[in-house]
Amino acid sequence: MQVANSVFVITGAASGIGEAAAIALAAAGAKVVLGDMNIEKLAVVKNRILNEGGNAASIALDVTDEASVQSCMDFAVDQFGKINVVLACAGIIRDSFMVTPDRETGKIKKFMSTSDWQQVIDVNMTGVFLTLREAVIRMVNNGWEGVLIPLSSINKSGELGQLNYASTKASLALWPKILAGEFHARGIKNIRVAAIAPGYVETPLLTAIKPEIMQAIVNEIPLGRLVQTGEIIATIKFIVENEAVHGTTLEISGGIIGKGLAK
Ligand SMILES: NC(=O)c1ccc[n+]([C@@H]2O[C@H](COP(=O)([O-])OP(=O)(O)OC[C@H]3O[C@@H](n4cnc5c(N)ncnc54)[C@H](O)[C@@H]3O)[C@@H](O)[C@H]2O)c1
Repeated sequence: MQVANSVFVITGAASGIGEAAAIALAAAGAKVVLGDMNIEKLAVVKNRILNEGGNAASIALDVTDEASVQSCMDFAVDQFGKINVVLACAGIIRDSFMVTPDRETGKIKKFMSTSDWQQVIDVNMTGVFLTLREAVIRMVNNGWEGVLIPLSSINKSGELGQLNYASTKASLALWPKILAGEFHARGIKNIRVAAIAPGYVETPLLTAIKPEIMQAIVNEIPLGRLVQTGEIIATIKFIVENEAVHGTTLEISGGIIGKGLAK
């Protein structure tokens, strides 16, 4: 599939990877439909693309809300007549250890809240499920050529303080194989699935990580720096343009091995 003239639905398009991808893909001739909860920033991204002569439309989207996801997909079809690529970038982190004892008393003084657990599952896992499912229904029913690109993470291998986040990203890394197999079993030939598992990419998501922890992370990256959004965008284009990329999760991490214990 060519990027030019394909219709991309990008969730989490107001920031970070989604924002950078929307701008770059539109510059490459794609028609981009941008969805995010942050409608102010979403408008800024859309207007920038329009000012640069690109094709973009935006809609308020909460990926955890089924009706909102359905409206976003219908909006995309309404605006540009089809959906070809779904880039599921909407994601959050709410890091903490499951339990932390007090140094003096040895008794638990803090624990991961149920809401921090649930929000991450809702956005990063259920949100991506709804996004992919609603796109696939429309792609199959209309016979459009489609590519699904969920965003996993290198921390799919397990990371301390990310019981919630790593669980969702490990889950997403399995989906390309499961879905490629299901599509094959059901005779669906027009849709490919490939996830991207980035390492640490320089985006606002990382501002939630304390600077001293961030420096320790960079020290562990063989590349010696954070991954840049341009390197993720190059991977998105590679997936879209290469028909043989299907049923796989590509790690784009600068060689990070990670300290995850759950390998
Ligand atoms: N930045 C990294 O280092 C990194 C590494 C690995 C994986 N990822 C993954 O890549 C994806 C994008 O990350 P990013 O760094 O661009 O993050 P970001 O924080 O810069 O952007 C995420 C966007 O998702 C939106 N969002 C959050 N909840 C939403 C919801 N319920 N509905 C719709 N939109 C919602 C936010 O408003 C935000 O605009 C995420 O899934 C993240 O887990 C990022």
